[in-house]
Amino acid sequence: MQLAAATFYEKMATASSIRASQFHFLKNMTQASNTPFSDPAQTWNARFAKEGYVFGTEPNAWLRRHAGVIKSGARILSVADGEGRNSVWLAKQGHQVDAFDISDVGVAKARKLADQSQVSVNFSVAGCDDFEWVPAHYDAIVAIFIQFADPDLRSRLFANMVQSLKPGGTLLLQGYTPKQLEFRTGGPGLLSHLYTPDLLREAFGEMDIQILEAYEADLNEGDGHHGRSAVIGLLAVRRPIAP
Ligand SMILES: C[S@@+](CC[C@H](N)C(=O)[O-])C[C@H]1O[C@@H](n2cnc3c(N)ncnc32)[C@H](O)[C@@H]1O
Repeated sequence: MQLAAATFYEKMATASSIRASQFHFLKNMTQASNTPFSDPAQTWNARFAKEGYVFGTEPNAWLRRHAGVIKSGARILSVADGEGRNSVWLAKQGHQVDAFDISDVGVAKARKLADQSQVSVNFSVAGCDDFEWVPAHYDAIVAIFIQFADPDLRSRLFANMVQSLKPGGTLLLQGYTPKQLEFRTGGPGLLSHLYTPDLLREAFGEMDIQILEAYEADLNEGDGHHGRSAVIGLLAVRRPIAP
């Protein structure tokens, strides 16, 4: 991860007394060239290759708290679903769930989790630009910690998410705010990938935003998201399509 790489160079700078200017050069080189965002499938496959579930097997707390608004037996998409903790939990609630992720290693673990839980989820391995987005198809879309997306990718992804919701469909989204850069307990460590309330209000201006809450919480989502964290949650509903 970029954050891990930066920390590595910080340690290196201390250990071998590299001057501050050299340290910043090295750090910028890391950020410019081999970031987790330049080859996300490889980065996430390596991360998910380890034993166990990086973000645990329990669903995200924001999702669990608000999923009650979704009608029973709904058709739901879990975006960048990782190792399946959210999609599998939604399927256990009786929903029909589609899920995709760019990491085939993550999806293989998600399939295993679904099998162990004796539920069925329609998984696919796809990047968010390649996924087959069907217009007005889902009753709900769940997007939990999808901050791999830089501003350009994010605007395409958010537009696809909105278009794929049925009118009246619900979007449940959780991410980190810029304050997370102080906690460093998870997330991309890149300001341009983080969400503010204003950013989400503008991005989802064409939806009815019912809950938009920036808050601090102690996350306990495996080793991946652990400890005091600055997060934001959104619950928004797609308006009827204008005639
Ligand atoms: C922080 S993890 C969150 C996983 C899952 N949503 C959860 O809450 O457990 C980010 C996920 O995004 C996936 N990802 C990264 N870049 C992607 C892309 N361009 N398209 C689709 N998935 C991507 C990674 O493989 C990883 O599973």
